[in-house]
Amino acid sequence: SQYRIAVLVGSIRQDSLNRKLALALAALAPEGFTFEHLRIDNLPLYNQDLDGKQPAEVQQLKTEIARAQGLLFVTPEYNRSIPGVLKNALDHGSRPYGQNAWGGKPAGVIGISPGAIGTALAQQHLRNVLAYLDVPTLGQPEAFIQNKDDLFDDKGHIGNEGSRKFLQTWVDKYVAWVKQHASV
Ligand code: FNR
Repeated sequence: SQYRIAVLVGSIRQDSLNRKLALALAALAPEGFTFEHLRIDNLPLYNQDLDGKQPAEVQQLKTEIARAQGLLFVTPEYNRSIPGVLKNALDHGSRPYGQNAWGGKPAGVIGISPGAIGTALAQQHLRNVLAYLDVPTLGQPEAFIQNKDDLFDDKGHIGNEGSRKFLQTWVDKYVAWVKQHASV
């Protein structure tokens, strides 16, 4: 069967390392898995007053989450937590009360940073939020990717062999996790 994965990248900048990582991960996935990057840069700031009349961009986000069999979060760390744009998207998708679009969707959490402890604290904060939102999240292997010059090749694939092997293992586990938990 076909598995559609909704990709949430926690950075909205043009040359995002995390978007590059998300694209490189998709290239390691088997046939039958498709990856769709959801837009979060067009969402207004969450405002509970609008729960009854969610803007079209929010409805679109929720529709695309609903259509997905799995979620892939690829996020930078901002000040030892997740970027506000990502939290904003999580909040939007969780409301109105009782209509949490994220619930039950199997997820993977990963991220890349130039820093040595590459996104570990952001990922931990994100896991906390996802637990509350009833998202079954792959626990192992954890992946805290530090950016290095040879990590990506000129096609955007993982160029470093050690990293490619590790990330292939990660993708294989993620794929199995999605298959185990998805309602297809
Ligand atoms: C950062 N950066 C950063 N890195 C990190 O490892 N831990 C952190 O707490 C922070 N904090 C932080 C705050 C803010 C506001 C910015 C803009 C950046 C650096 C960050 O990892 C780096 O800019 C990445 O390249 C961001 O990811 P993208 O945009 O390349 O995907």
